[in-house]
Amino acid sequence: MIIAIDGPAGAGKSTIASRLARKLGYVNLESGAMYRALALKAIGKDISFDDEAALIQLARDSRIRLEPTVGGNRTLLDGRDVSSRIRERDVTEGASRVSVHPAVRQWMVERQREMGAGRDVVMEGRDIGTKVFPSADLKVFLDADPVVREKRRLQQLKVKGEMAPNVADELRERDLRDRTRTASPLVPAQDAIVIDSTDLSEDQVLERIEKLVAQIMQI
Ligand code: DC
Repeated sequence: MIIAIDGPAGAGKSTIASRLARKLGYVNLESGAMYRALALKAIGKDISFDDEAALIQLARDSRIRLEPTVGGNRTLLDGRDVSSRIRERDVTEGASRVSVHPAVRQWMVERQREMGAGRDVVMEGRDIGTKVFPSADLKVFLDADPVVREKRRLQQLKVKGEMAPNVADELRERDLRDRTRTASPLVPAQDAIVIDSTDLSEDQVLERIEKLVAQIMQI
């Protein structure tokens, strides 16, 4: 069983995907962490986010692993736990920029298919329902009003004790890049169920998705 959860930043995908996976006993794979790990490696090697040829070589030379654990997901880059580092701002911007390159995306999609094959997974990202698993059993597109998404992101950063003077601008810029890139732009799959979480609590979103899962399991 493959459940795809796509949507823009700040719509609540990560929290919902991990809670859903835990409830169902499925593996939660966060595809964005892979783009983030590649961006981090590019930063370390001083490779430009615009250099597609160098980035694809870098990806081929890297070991990027998503390791679901009871306490949450870990991301390993060449054996090193980079789970916290990849959440920082420079990597966040870099991930969005490396993800515009078709060759990089193709490499990621192949790895993501390998990781999901033959397992019960909740995979979240931007192109899971459109590209990675176009025949996923359930596709959810989780969206929310941009102002609400910005507020949620600010709140997350506040909890972590981080200052974020430009968070709204950065989120908007990233959104625009993710939605307008030529290769697999962020769009809902034609058969995706769109859930607008603007006025919904986390529990309400989860409840809706659980109902959809239950319907599918009955078929
Ligand atoms: O979900 P996230 O914020 O961790 O993703 C970071 C970036 O990676 C995001 O700006 C776009 C890119 N991404 C993508 O293009 N396709 C995916 N399936 C997941 C993420």
